Amino acid sequence: MDDVTIERAAALVKATCAGKARRPVIRSFFDEPTFTASHVVYDPETREAAIIDSVLDYDPASGRTSSASAQAILDFVKSESLEIVWQLETHAHADHLSAAPWLQEKLGGKLAIGSGILEVQDVFGKIFNAGTRFARDGSQFDRLFTDGDSFRIGGIDAIAVHVPGHTPADMAFVIGDAAFIGDTLFMPDFGTARADFPGGDAHRLYRSIRRLLSLPDETRLFLCHDYKAPGRDVYAWETTVGAQRASNIHVHDGVTEDAFVTMRTRRDATLTLPNLIMPSVQINMRGGKLPEPEENGTRYIKIPLDTL
Ligand SMILES: [Fe+2]
Repeated sequence: MDDVTIERAAALVKATCAGKARRPVIRSFFDEPTFTASHVVYDPETREAAIIDSVLDYDPASGRTSSASAQAILDFVKSESLEIVWQLETHAHADHLSAAPWLQEKLGGKLAIGSGILEVQDVFGKIFNAGTRFARDGSQFDRLFTDGDSFRIGGIDAIAVHVPGHTPADMAFVIGDAAFIGDTLFMPDFGTARADFPGGDAHRLYRSIRRLLSLPDETRLFLCHDYKAPGRDVYAWETTVGAQRASNIHVHDGVTEDAFVTMRTRRDATLTLPNLIMPSVQINMRGGKLPEPEENGTRYIKIPLDTL
C-alpha cells in the first residue's frame, strides 16, 4: 500500500488495540428527527474531548431553532468534567443544522472541517446567491484539515482522512482505534451514503470507502446517521471495518467500482432531497452560524425556486 495517510492511521489503530496507546471513550447521542448520531470522544485520563457532528434542532414549519439536543451534550460534558478541545464536522451536512457555534460558545474547542468546504461554499454560495458578505474562504472555521493532518485529544493521537464522494469536503477522523466516518458507509445492512448532491461523486465515494476499509478489521467505525433497515428495529451507529468488509450490502469485499457506481447512481435517482436541506446548507456552509439579520433584525433562510 502506498497510501501514507492510511498506513499511519492503521498503525495508530493497531497500537491502540495492542494496548500501546490509550483507547478513547465514546458517548453517542442520537437525534431521531434527523436520524443523526453525534459523538463525544474523550481521553479518559486527561478528560480532553471532541464533539463530532452536533445537531441544532429546527422546526421547518415555524422556522424556530432550539438547543434541546445540544443541551444533552452540554450536560454530559459537564457531568463528566470534560474539556472540549475540538468541535469537529465530518462535512457540511444537508439534513440537519450544526450546533457547533452554540456548543463552542459554552464549552470552547476549535471548530474544524475539511478544506473542501471552500468548494462547498463556492457551489452553495452561488445557488443561494449569498452575496459578498458571505466569505467563501473557510474563515468561519478555526482549522481546515487536509488529508493526513494530525491532531490530538489529550494523550490520544488523531489523523484526518479526506473521504470525498458524498460531498467534496467529507473528512473521516481516526482517533485511537476509532474512526468517525461521517457520510460514507452506513450500517452494513443499510449500505452507503448518497453521492448525488452538488459536488458529490459516486466514483470518489467508492475510492474513499475502500481507503477506510483498508484500515484494520478491528477498527471501530462510528457513523453519522442510521435509518434502521428492513428487519432491524433499533437504531445503530457503531460497527467495525471487519463487519463492513464482510457484509455491507453495497460495498462488501468483491464489489467493483463499476458495480457500485451503477447501483449508487440508480438508487440516488429514486431519493428525494432531505427535508431540511435548505436551512441546513445555508447555515452549515457558514460553520453553523445563522445568516446575518436583515435591517429589521430578523434572520432569513432563502429557498431558490426550480433550482435544486
Ligand atoms: Fe451528509
